[in-house]
Amino acid sequence: MKLNLKIWRQAGPEVAGRLVEYVADDVSPDMSFLEMLDLVNEALIRSGQDAIAFDSDCREGICGMCSLVVNGVPHGPDRGTTVCQLHMRRFKDRDTIVVEPWRAKAFPVVKDLVVDRSAFDRVIAAGGYVSINVGGAPDGNTIPIPKDLVETAMDSAACIGCGACVAACKNASAHLFMSAKISHLGLLPQGQPERYGRVVAMINQADAEGFGSCSNEGECEAVCPKEIPISNIARMTRDYFRAIWTAGT
Ligand code: SF4
Ligand code: FES
Repeated sequence: MKLNLKIWRQAGPEVAGRLVEYVADDVSPDMSFLEMLDLVNEALIRSGQDAIAFDSDCREGICGMCSLVVNGVPHGPDRGTTVCQLHMRRFKDRDTIVVEPWRAKAFPVVKDLVVDRSAFDRVIAAGGYVSINVGGAPDGNTIPIPKDLVETAMDSAACIGCGACVAACKNASAHLFMSAKISHLGLLPQGQPERYGRVVAMINQADAEGFGSCSNEGECEAVCPKEIPISNIARMTRDYFRAIWTAGT
Protein backbone atom coordinates (compact mmCIF):
# COMPACT_ATOMS: atom_id res chain seq x y z
CA MET A 1 0.00 0.00 0.00
CA LYS A 2 1.01 3.59 -0.56
CA LEU A 3 -0.36 6.16 1.88
CA ASN A 4 -0.36 9.92 2.11
CA LEU A 5 0.25 11.01 5.69
CA LYS A 6 -0.27 14.37 7.32
CA ILE A 7 1.53 14.20 10.65
CA TRP A 8 1.67 16.80 13.43
CA ARG A 9 5.25 17.96 13.96
CA GLN A 10 6.10 20.21 16.89
CA ALA A 11 9.68 20.60 18.10
CA GLY A 12 8.71 21.36 21.71
CA PRO A 13 6.02 22.58 24.10
CA GLU A 14 6.69 26.28 23.52
CA VAL A 15 6.87 26.33 19.72
CA ALA A 16 4.08 26.24 17.15
CA GLY A 17 3.39 22.94 15.41
CA ARG A 18 2.04 22.11 11.96
CA LEU A 19 0.92 19.20 9.83
CA VAL A 20 3.72 17.89 7.61
CA GLU A 21 3.05 15.65 4.61
CA TYR A 22 4.85 12.32 4.14
CA VAL A 23 4.37 9.42 1.76
CA ALA A 24 4.55 5.90 3.24
CA ASP A 25 5.52 3.33 0.61
CA ASP A 26 5.47 -0.47 0.80
CA VAL A 27 3.10 -0.58 3.74
CA SER A 28 1.84 -4.10 4.39
CA PRO A 29 -1.86 -4.40 5.27
CA ASP A 30 -0.74 -6.68 8.13
CA MET A 31 1.35 -3.96 9.79
CA SER A 32 0.02 -2.24 12.87
CA PHE A 33 -0.40 1.53 12.71
CA LEU A 34 2.71 1.99 14.87
CA GLU A 35 4.75 -0.34 12.67
CA MET A 36 3.74 1.83 9.72
CA LEU A 37 5.07 4.87 11.63
CA ASP A 38 8.27 2.90 12.40
CA LEU A 39 8.68 2.42 8.63
CA VAL A 40 8.29 6.16 8.03
CA ASN A 41 10.79 6.90 10.83
CA GLU A 42 13.37 4.47 9.43
CA ALA A 43 13.23 6.32 6.11
CA LEU A 44 13.52 9.70 7.87
CA ILE A 45 16.53 8.53 9.90
CA ARG A 46 18.21 7.08 6.78
CA SER A 47 17.91 10.48 5.10
CA GLY A 48 19.29 12.31 8.15
CA GLN A 49 15.99 13.82 9.29
CA ASP A 50 14.47 13.97 12.75
CA ALA A 51 12.26 10.94 13.50
CA ILE A 52 8.61 11.52 14.41
CA ALA A 53 8.22 11.25 18.19
CA PHE A 54 5.31 9.11 19.39
CA ASP A 55 4.58 7.12 22.54
CA SER A 56 4.26 3.34 22.77
CA ASP A 57 5.26 0.52 25.06
CA CYS A 58 3.40 -2.80 25.10
CA ARG A 59 1.95 -2.54 21.57
CA GLU A 60 -0.70 -5.04 22.63
CA GLY A 61 -3.41 -2.82 24.05
CA ILE A 62 -2.64 -3.05 27.76
CA CYS A 63 -0.31 -0.21 28.81
CA GLY A 64 -2.17 2.90 27.62
CA MET A 65 0.95 4.59 26.23
CA CYS A 66 -0.04 4.90 22.58
CA SER A 67 -2.00 8.07 22.05
CA LEU A 68 -2.67 9.15 18.49
CA VAL A 69 -5.66 10.91 16.99
CA VAL A 70 -6.17 9.26 13.59
CA ASN A 71 -8.39 11.13 11.15
CA GLY A 72 -9.92 13.05 14.04
CA VAL A 73 -10.66 10.03 16.26
CA PRO A 74 -8.55 9.14 19.32
CA HIS A 75 -7.12 5.62 18.72
CA GLY A 76 -8.55 5.63 15.18
CA PRO A 77 -11.59 4.12 13.50
CA ASP A 78 -11.90 0.71 15.20
CA ARG A 79 -14.15 0.61 18.27
CA GLY A 80 -12.67 -0.84 21.46
CA THR A 81 -9.16 -0.82 19.98
CA THR A 82 -5.97 1.00 20.92
CA VAL A 83 -4.03 2.56 18.06
CA CYS A 84 -1.23 0.02 18.59
CA GLN A 85 -3.75 -2.71 17.76
CA LEU A 86 -5.12 -0.89 14.73
CA HIS A 87 -3.97 -2.53 11.48
CA MET A 88 -3.27 -0.98 8.11
CA ARG A 89 -5.78 -3.29 6.41
CA ARG A 90 -8.37 -0.93 7.90
CA PHE A 91 -7.22 1.64 5.30
CA LYS A 92 -7.19 1.65 1.51
CA ASP A 93 -4.27 2.10 -0.86
CA ARG A 94 -3.62 5.84 -1.48
CA ASP A 95 -5.73 6.93 1.49
CA THR A 96 -4.78 10.20 3.18
CA ILE A 97 -4.38 9.78 6.95
CA VAL A 98 -4.09 12.69 9.39
CA VAL A 99 -2.24 11.91 12.63
CA GLU A 100 -2.31 14.29 15.60
CA PRO A 101 -1.55 14.17 19.33
CA TRP A 102 -4.17 14.21 22.12
CA ARG A 103 -5.34 17.79 22.41
CA ALA A 104 -6.21 19.03 25.92
CA LYS A 105 -4.94 21.84 28.15
CA ALA A 106 -4.03 19.30 30.84
CA PHE A 107 -2.03 17.20 28.31
CA PRO A 108 0.57 19.64 26.88
CA VAL A 109 2.52 18.50 23.82
CA VAL A 110 6.07 17.44 24.65
CA LYS A 111 7.16 16.82 21.06
CA ASP A 112 5.33 15.90 17.85
CA LEU A 113 2.76 13.25 18.87
CA VAL A 114 3.91 12.86 22.49
CA VAL A 115 1.91 14.58 25.23
CA ASP A 116 2.57 14.88 28.96
CA ARG A 117 -0.09 12.80 30.75
CA SER A 118 1.36 13.17 34.25
CA ALA A 119 -1.83 15.04 35.22
CA PHE A 120 -3.50 11.60 35.35
CA ASP A 121 -0.81 10.40 37.78
CA ARG A 122 -1.51 13.35 40.05
CA VAL A 123 -5.26 12.65 39.97
CA ILE A 124 -4.57 9.05 40.99
CA ALA A 125 -2.11 10.20 43.69
CA ALA A 126 -4.85 12.43 45.11
CA GLY A 127 -7.07 9.46 46.00
CA GLY A 128 -7.13 6.62 43.49
CA TYR A 129 -5.84 3.99 45.87
CA VAL A 130 -6.69 2.04 49.05
CA SER A 131 -4.42 3.04 51.94
CA ILE A 132 -6.06 1.23 54.84
CA ASN A 133 -4.27 -1.81 56.25
CA VAL A 134 -6.23 -4.76 54.93
CA GLY A 135 -3.76 -7.33 56.29
CA GLY A 136 -2.18 -10.13 54.31
CA ALA A 137 -3.64 -11.60 51.14
CA PRO A 138 -6.86 -13.35 52.21
CA ASP A 139 -7.88 -16.80 51.04
CA GLY A 140 -10.10 -16.72 48.00
CA ASN A 141 -13.81 -16.19 48.79
CA THR A 142 -13.30 -15.28 52.48
CA ILE A 143 -14.95 -11.92 51.76
CA PRO A 144 -18.22 -12.67 49.98
CA ILE A 145 -18.88 -10.09 47.25
CA PRO A 146 -21.92 -10.29 44.97
CA LYS A 147 -20.96 -11.43 41.50
CA ASP A 148 -22.49 -8.46 39.71
CA LEU A 149 -20.44 -6.04 41.85
CA VAL A 150 -17.24 -7.99 41.23
CA GLU A 151 -17.89 -8.01 37.48
CA THR A 152 -18.60 -4.25 37.38
CA ALA A 153 -15.54 -3.45 39.53
CA MET A 154 -13.28 -5.60 37.37
CA ASP A 155 -14.70 -4.17 34.13
CA SER A 156 -13.86 -0.71 35.51
CA ALA A 157 -10.36 -1.86 36.44
CA ALA A 158 -9.78 -2.49 32.72
CA CYS A 159 -9.11 1.24 32.20
CA ILE A 160 -5.53 1.60 30.94
CA GLY A 161 -5.24 5.34 31.64
CA CYS A 162 -4.62 6.22 28.01
CA GLY A 163 -6.48 9.55 28.03
CA ALA A 164 -8.47 9.01 24.83
CA CYS A 165 -11.62 9.93 26.76
CA VAL A 166 -10.12 13.36 27.50
CA ALA A 167 -8.97 13.82 23.90
CA ALA A 168 -12.43 13.02 22.53
CA CYS A 169 -14.33 15.28 24.92
CA LYS A 170 -15.11 18.85 23.88
CA ASN A 171 -14.64 19.81 27.55
CA ALA A 172 -11.42 17.77 27.88
CA SER A 173 -13.06 16.11 30.85
CA ALA A 174 -11.33 13.31 32.75
CA HIS A 175 -14.63 12.04 34.17
CA LEU A 176 -14.62 8.65 32.41
CA PHE A 177 -11.07 7.92 33.56
CA MET A 178 -11.78 9.00 37.15
CA SER A 179 -15.11 7.22 37.29
CA ALA A 180 -13.47 3.96 36.18
CA LYS A 181 -10.98 4.16 39.06
CA ILE A 182 -13.67 5.27 41.53
CA SER A 183 -16.00 2.43 40.50
CA HIS A 184 -13.19 -0.11 40.60
CA LEU A 185 -12.34 0.77 44.21
CA GLY A 186 -15.67 2.06 45.52
CA LEU A 187 -17.69 -1.03 44.65
CA LEU A 188 -15.48 -3.42 46.60
CA PRO A 189 -15.51 -3.80 50.42
CA GLN A 190 -11.82 -2.83 50.69
CA GLY A 191 -12.57 0.51 49.02
CA GLN A 192 -15.40 1.56 51.32
CA PRO A 193 -13.56 3.38 54.18
CA GLU A 194 -12.08 5.98 51.77
CA ARG A 195 -14.92 5.94 49.24
CA TYR A 196 -16.30 9.47 49.70
CA GLY A 197 -13.02 11.24 50.49
CA ARG A 198 -11.54 9.62 47.38
CA VAL A 199 -14.12 11.01 44.98
CA VAL A 200 -13.82 14.57 46.32
CA ALA A 201 -10.00 14.52 46.30
CA MET A 202 -9.79 13.16 42.75
CA ILE A 203 -12.34 15.60 41.31
CA ASN A 204 -10.65 18.55 43.06
CA GLN A 205 -7.29 17.49 41.61
CA ALA A 206 -8.77 17.10 38.12
CA ASP A 207 -10.17 20.63 38.37
CA ALA A 208 -6.75 21.93 39.45
CA GLU A 209 -5.09 20.19 36.49
CA GLY A 210 -7.36 21.96 34.01
CA PHE A 211 -9.64 19.09 32.98
CA GLY A 212 -13.16 20.25 32.15
CA SER A 213 -16.48 19.05 33.47
CA CYS A 214 -18.86 16.50 31.94
CA SER A 215 -21.82 17.47 29.77
CA ASN A 216 -22.91 13.91 28.94
CA GLU A 217 -21.92 13.90 25.28
CA GLY A 218 -20.77 10.26 25.39
CA GLU A 219 -17.76 10.85 23.11
CA CYS A 220 -15.51 9.38 25.81
CA GLU A 221 -17.37 6.06 25.87
CA ALA A 222 -17.35 5.91 22.05
CA VAL A 223 -13.54 6.08 21.80
CA CYS A 224 -12.54 4.22 24.98
CA PRO A 225 -10.44 1.23 23.90
CA LYS A 226 -11.64 -0.69 26.96
CA GLU A 227 -15.29 0.28 26.41
CA ILE A 228 -15.68 1.75 29.90
CA PRO A 229 -19.38 2.81 30.10
CA ILE A 230 -20.49 6.32 31.08
CA SER A 231 -22.78 4.76 33.71
CA ASN A 232 -19.60 4.91 35.82
CA ILE A 233 -19.78 8.71 35.63
CA ALA A 234 -23.30 8.63 37.10
CA ARG A 235 -22.00 6.47 39.96
CA MET A 236 -19.10 8.87 40.56
CA THR A 237 -21.42 11.89 40.54
CA ARG A 238 -23.78 10.24 43.06
CA ASP A 239 -20.84 9.53 45.36
CA TYR A 240 -19.57 13.09 44.93
CA PHE A 241 -22.88 14.69 45.91
CA ARG A 242 -23.30 12.27 48.82
CA ALA A 243 -19.82 13.27 50.02
CA ILE A 244 -20.59 16.99 49.72
CA TRP A 245 -23.95 16.71 51.48
CA THR A 246 -22.49 14.56 54.25
CA ALA A 247 -19.68 17.06 54.78
CA GLY A 248 -22.19 19.90 54.94
CA THR A 249 -24.38 18.33 57.66
S1 SF4 B 1 -11.60 5.42 30.51
FE1 SF4 B 1 -11.02 4.44 28.54
S2 SF4 B 1 -10.31 6.14 27.26
FE2 SF4 B 1 -10.32 6.90 29.36
S3 SF4 B 1 -8.24 6.55 30.16
FE3 SF4 B 1 -9.46 4.72 30.71
S4 SF4 B 1 -9.15 3.28 29.00
FE4 SF4 B 1 -8.46 5.30 28.24
S1 FES C 1 1.32 0.69 23.26
FE1 FES C 1 0.44 -0.18 25.07
S2 FES C 1 -1.69 0.11 24.79
FE2 FES C 1 -0.83 0.78 22.89
